[in-house]
Amino acid sequence: MPDDLFPPALATDRLVLPPLCTQDAEAIQRIFPQWEVVRFLADQVPWPYPPDGARAYLEQVAIPAMRRGAQWHWSIRTRAEPDILIGIVSLMDDDPANNRGFWLDPAHRGRGYMTEASEAATAYWFEVLGKPVLRAPKAVANTASRNISVRGGMRLVGTEERGYVSGRLPTEIWEITREEWIARHPRKPVAG
Ligand SMILES: CC(C)(COP(=O)(O)OP(=O)(O)OC[C@H]1O[C@@H](n2cnc3c(N)ncnc32)[C@H](O)[C@@H]1OP(=O)(O)O)[C@@H](O)C(=O)NCCC(=O)NCCS
Repeated sequence: MPDDLFPPALATDRLVLPPLCTQDAEAIQRIFPQWEVVRFLADQVPWPYPPDGARAYLEQVAIPAMRRGAQWHWSIRTRAEPDILIGIVSLMDDDPANNRGFWLDPAHRGRGYMTEASEAATAYWFEVLGKPVLRAPKAVANTASRNISVRGGMRLVGTEERGYVSGRLPTEIWEITREEWIARHPRKPVAG
């Protein structure tokens, strides 16, 4: 499997984001199965989480979807501790109302790490993949995720009901277009 089919590592001021790989299974299995992580995630997540859930997700879902060119997944690590996985950010092109997802270890919340990581992934969506629009569904009750949409300049474009690990919940669909993204991130003029 040539590496060039996988997304490149991304980097931000405080974070490094290598593409997700099978070696991440152990860390994901340790951090992911917590109610604060899964309760507002889509009900495709098996719950209770099986003991081999992370390996099965990587081998049967995430990595095959990256190979098909339908999804792009990165682990999130701080520059200070690059060996420690603290979350995941994902882009998906196989559901028009659900193009981006993320979760963060509860021990690393409240510092803006996901705001930073989701900006880097969104830049990849528009600037590298050249997509016209990014949409993300969120349970109305998931205010932490909603705040990331607001900070990222997204607009609320619809409401519906969706199934989550915690049951069916009222949901908002948030959106940003490529034009809106570019207007928020103007290219600096090249000196000289
Ligand atoms: C959604 C989730 C990633 C948000 O985590 P988070 O830590 O609140 O998000 P960020 O890392 O962007 O941090 C933002 C918080 O840090 C604060 N912050 C501190 N420094 C900051 C900085 N430099 N930049 C931005 N925010 C900063 C913000 O004020 C905000 O805190 P507040 O909500 O109390 O105002 C987290 O709640 C999670 O993993 N939830 C479970 C999975 C989930 O629901 N995913 C989304 C499905 S739609």
